[in-house]
Amino acid sequence: MRGLIVTFAVLAVAAATTQTTYENYKVYQVKPQTDEEAKVLLSFKRFTPEIDFWNELHAVGQSVDVMVSPNLQQLFLNNLRNHNIAFYEIISDVERLFQNERMNQRSAPKAAEGRINFVEFHRYGVIESYLKKIAEEYPEITRLRTPANTTEGRPIYMLRITTGGSQGGQHTKPAILIDGGIHAREWISPATVLYIIQELVENPENRHMIENVDWMIIPVLNPDGYEYTHTNSRLWRKNRSKGKRCTGTDLNRNFGFHWMEVGASSDECDDTFAGKAGLSEPETEAITHIVGKHGEQIKLYLTFHSYGQYLLYPWGYTSALPENWKEHDDLGHAVDKAISAVAGTSYTIGSSTNTLYAAAGGSDDWVKGVGGVPVAFCIELPGGGSWGFDPPTSMIHPVVTETWEGVKVFHKHVQTTYAN
Ligand SMILES: *[C@@H]1O[C@H](CO)[C@@H](O)[C@H](O)[C@H]1NC(C)=O
Ligand SMILES: *[C@@H]1O[C@H](CO)[C@@H](O)[C@H](O)[C@H]1NC(C)=O
Ligand SMILES: [Zn+2]
Repeated sequence: MRGLIVTFAVLAVAAATTQTTYENYKVYQVKPQTDEEAKVLLSFKRFTPEIDFWNELHAVGQSVDVMVSPNLQQLFLNNLRNHNIAFYEIISDVERLFQNERMNQRSAPKAAEGRINFVEFHRYGVIESYLKKIAEEYPEITRLRTPANTTEGRPIYMLRITTGGSQGGQHTKPAILIDGGIHAREWISPATVLYIIQELVENPENRHMIENVDWMIIPVLNPDGYEYTHTNSRLWRKNRSKGKRCTGTDLNRNFGFHWMEVGASSDECDDTFAGKAGLSEPETEAITHIVGKHGEQIKLYLTFHSYGQYLLYPWGYTSALPENWKEHDDLGHAVDKAISAVAGTSYTIGSSTNTLYAAAGGSDDWVKGVGGVPVAFCIELPGGGSWGFDPPTSMIHPVVTETWEGVKVFHKHVQTTYAN
């Protein structure tokens, strides 16, 4: 009997280790003080995935979280010390945090069939059932569409929320386009977008928000990658396209507007691999297709990422500013004010290039620069800090509800500025 129990225990461990393990991987918070120091630090980006930047480096004097595999820790730290770059360890064993996360996920109260909650990060199947269920329950205000399928065969869903009011078949109301989950591992992003859907569709108090404005919402743009982070490799960020040596394209470097000019990689093994050509992926095509079809109507585009608490507007490919940068900047500050009023979470506001380091091929640059949508924001939600990549499950609800207060401000701006 004892032998049998031991055998089961061994089998259970074997099954659990089909997941990529991050045993003894450490996360350091690093703070370069000069451009030279920043350059030294950023040169490590090419070691992917053994050296993984969990968030983006903002200006010098700001910190960035970098995960380093056990075999490279010595090299990495020696380099930092040689250049006198300030750092400290914030996570001593990443695997322990992810084991914790999986345990919290398993023990979270389950949502009823076809429903959703904000106490765990949901699998794609649960998200899919929820979208189908509300489309069925609210046929007068919702349409569920599948603008594209992934190569692994998963549908990418877009929920359209509208009270109608078309004239001669033309939608004359301004629309807001939202997506989440471009980067697979940023689980707080689909959670936030699902909360927006729930509030707009299921909460009658918010009915006024869909009367003068239409919504087009894609909660998970990269479902193959999203599932892969649940089943195989928690920190995967690209899509699952097969290359000769490595798998995956960074979808947020794949949009065809100043594609590959800065901040992206042509090496398919890099985490910022931009793809074989601009717009090579079905996921990016889904967005460009929607904007091509409804571009006139869409006045605001929001793309949710994590982490770092940034409200970023175009451009990402150049330090020049768009003609209506002031509209973006004022709006960003109003959104930040509404979010921080809830529990003090504050955001940094600015153009992508001037706030972070330049990176071309982002969806917000494309939607504004090619799609002609006047206002576009990339929102970097809060991360987990010393709790891990994403906030712990107990923080999902606080994050999505405070962010919703910002979404109300975005809506109000579109209604007052673009509805006639
Ligand atoms: C996605 O696949 C489904 C069938 O599985 C098909 O009905 C649908 O037309 C496909 N969508 C696109 C955009 O290719
Ligand atoms: C990801 O990108 C490749 C092109 O590099 C594309 O062919 C593939 O279909 C995409 N993968 C998925 C799973 O959609
Ligand atoms: Zn991202």
